Amino acid sequence: MEKSEIIKRDLYAQEPRRIKHIEGVYECAMMLRDRHAGSIPDEYIAEAAYMHDFTKEYSDEKQLELLSGYGIEPDGEGTATKLFHAKTAAAMAKAVYALPDEVCDAILYHTTGRANMTDLEKIIYLADYIEKNRTFIDCVDVRDTYLMLYEKGDPDALDRAIFYSLDLTLEDLLKKSFYIHPDTVSARNWLFLKFYRKDHIND
Ligand SMILES: [Fe+2]
Ligand SMILES: [Fe+2]
Repeated sequence: MEKSEIIKRDLYAQEPRRIKHIEGVYECAMMLRDRHAGSIPDEYIAEAAYMHDFTKEYSDEKQLELLSGYGIEPDGEGTATKLFHAKTAAAMAKAVYALPDEVCDAILYHTTGRANMTDLEKIIYLADYIEKNRTFIDCVDVRDTYLMLYEKGDPDALDRAIFYSLDLTLEDLLKKSFYIHPDTVSARNWLFLKFYRKDHIND
């Protein structure tokens, strides 16, 4: 039995409310892999997709307990509760399922992003944001933008869609006056510089 099938079995046993979303991430990530990073193995996509929100429905108390059990500090001194699950799921991916480091990183950074993301990290990050069951206006907007760029044949469709999603995420966090993880800022500026240089090359 592949590891991803064991994770999937354990995930379904928890009867997660978000199973449609998780299946949507798997499907979308496979599609993005086929379009943008053909060399990533199916198994990596399946492991990352089925594991990324494995702990999402755990209570904050349980998340904090898990984090302290793994010796991990919570982000924003514990104020960024939405980020707990990425860290606990990545830690479990390593400790319980012995998943490869690159898959654990894709799980760890699926909410914040980070500078110099790998192709697998980008694919899981974007699939999480734009999979077909997402109805939040920003998600629909990024999904449409990605499709428009891809259909136009833009070779940077994946990165430009991620850049746009990071801007929307930062805007949303500022509006709500929430903690902003430094990795989100680094990811955004990394892509900002990539496209600034590219778009201003003939200035
Ligand atoms: Fe998540
Ligand atoms: Fe998710």
